[in-house]
Amino acid sequence: MELETAASTVEVTDSGLVIRWSDGSRSRFHSLWLRDNCPSGGDKRKAFRTFSIIDLNPELFVIDAERNDDGDLAVEFSDGHESVFDFEWLRANSHEPHDRIGAARQISHFRAGAVLPEFDLPKRGSAAHCDLLDAVARWGVAIVNGVPGDVGGTEMLADLVGRVRETDFGRLFEIVVEPEVWEFSQSGLALDPHTDDPYRYTPSGTSILHCVEVSTTGGESVLVDGFGIAVDIRDDDPDAFDLLTETRIPFVRHRIETVEQGEDVHLLAHAPIISLDRDHEIVGIRFHERSMAPLDIDPSQVGAYYRALITFTKAVNDPGRAVQFRLEPGQAIVYDNQRVLHGRTAFGSDGGRRHLRLCTIDRDQFHSRLRRLREVHDRPGVLERLPSGSIA
Ligand SMILES: [Fe+2]
Repeated sequence: MELETAASTVEVTDSGLVIRWSDGSRSRFHSLWLRDNCPSGGDKRKAFRTFSIIDLNPELFVIDAERNDDGDLAVEFSDGHESVFDFEWLRANSHEPHDRIGAARQISHFRAGAVLPEFDLPKRGSAAHCDLLDAVARWGVAIVNGVPGDVGGTEMLADLVGRVRETDFGRLFEIVVEPEVWEFSQSGLALDPHTDDPYRYTPSGTSILHCVEVSTTGGESVLVDGFGIAVDIRDDDPDAFDLLTETRIPFVRHRIETVEQGEDVHLLAHAPIISLDRDHEIVGIRFHERSMAPLDIDPSQVGAYYRALITFTKAVNDPGRAVQFRLEPGQAIVYDNQRVLHGRTAFGSDGGRRHLRLCTIDRDQFHSRLRRLREVHDRPGVLERLPSGSIA
């Protein structure tokens, strides 16, 4: 049967329903999907459920569907159950390929010379707070001004993003860099752009680098858009892209010496440098040249993989991709650690000091906060499919 509605037609088929929307698109809904999602079974968003999939009859089919007096869709099933669906809800939950990809993420790539979005420390829950998180989602990074230099200032900014994740580096990590200190990251040497924690199954998500003190020359921050690199390699060198997305390589951190902060670790994770989601969208970058363990991939793949790795590493270190600037005390960078690579230029042994404070928030925390702010401030993109990142 075919039923005219104000906005669409509904057709009962062997597998369920086909709804044609006024914009010309169509959505197919399977009988089992409809029965499972019947509102009478409870609200999946709240996990209050009384209906179980165990009770689904695999042979279930739709007998009839028609618009009721309230303008909703009444569906009668072969087991005698009747469901009432809201058309808007069905439209929002259409899972045709074009609808799934249609809720595309809003991402802008940056290269050298880009002016990164910059904000004053916003009030929690304000429209400016939403603007800040929107900018981090779009650009992968934003600069925040006016962050008090004490621990409370860092915590205040972190609280705008989500709950801080505690790791073996602690909750907040003080990066105090003095030229005479021996350890690599505490030296005045340049750090090539990298993502943190590639050796974790789930690396740092949204990270905050808060500048407390800079009294030396040099030591400028360098940021590179890893998603931009991935897109370019996908376009220019598809074979390299396939290797970088499909080959899991080892990253390691082994540290047993006594250190002032943190504890002994032996972390090891295998993951691709570029992670894709089910629709082959780029969702995560994992790259830290100094944290790569010896490749343990199929020997026949090593030559080809190194060629792809050289391509990627050159892009990471390409000055044409790097935004470079001096972070001043009271400024912080909020960045997506699984998208934007960070590094720094060398700085001189002029007796100066460089003190940054680092913390991280899991990306699901950040995305949750962003969705809620978009809901509260009536912004678009509440259902944007935000990149889930790189998971080993
Ligand atoms: Fe780092």
